[in-house]
Amino acid sequence: MNQDEMKRRAAQAALDYVEGGIIGVGTGSTVNHFIDLLAGIKGRIDGAVSSSEASTARLTRHGIAVFDLNAVGELSLYVDGADESNHRLQLIKGGGGALTREKIIADASQRFVCIADDSKLVDTLGRFPLPVEVIPMARGHVARQLVKLGGTPVWREGFVTDNGNLILDVRHLSIEDPLAIEQQINAIPGVVTVGLFARRPADVLILGGPDGTKTLTA
Ligand code: A5P
Repeated sequence: MNQDEMKRRAAQAALDYVEGGIIGVGTGSTVNHFIDLLAGIKGRIDGAVSSSEASTARLTRHGIAVFDLNAVGELSLYVDGADESNHRLQLIKGGGGALTREKIIADASQRFVCIADDSKLVDTLGRFPLPVEVIPMARGHVARQLVKLGGTPVWREGFVTDNGNLILDVRHLSIEDPLAIEQQINAIPGVVTVGLFARRPADVLILGGPDGTKTLTA
């Protein structure tokens, strides 16, 4: 079984959490499976709030209505992928560059169900380069501050977020205290969002593997 099939397994299991209403939908290849599967039960929901232009396009193609978060308010469920999770369900996200909208929707949701293949579970976050969304004029300044924190930032050249900003991918950070690092990086002027989800971790993590799915809860 390949990694993509394991992602699809996790996405399939997340359908059990869909109870109706308007649900939050994340971004990425695992979520793409979720959106395709959600289309099969779309009569059960009223629509979705989407974390990216890409997910909005996919939802719309399936005939699933997409709502502005401002018009909806709090959500009962958010389903999204992750680049890494530790055992406390604190995450690194933003490999697809949608971290800011993802963090907003996660924060606005009562339950965050994270779906991933089982290679994403780690003991200590930081093997995956940590994405940081920055205001364009602050790119150099933020990069220098990240070096002071011990990281090696690399500009994701040619990539512009849905919000018109840039991404720095920070390597070589050993993230022993995710909450502290999240606060420190968010405090640098020019940072829009760091892709650490420690203040708002997932509530449920569904891992797809060769033998089925495993569910972890916070
Ligand atoms: C998008 O910005 C990310 O946060 C994704 O959720 C994350 O990169 C996981 O993506 P895959 O599902 O493609 O592995």
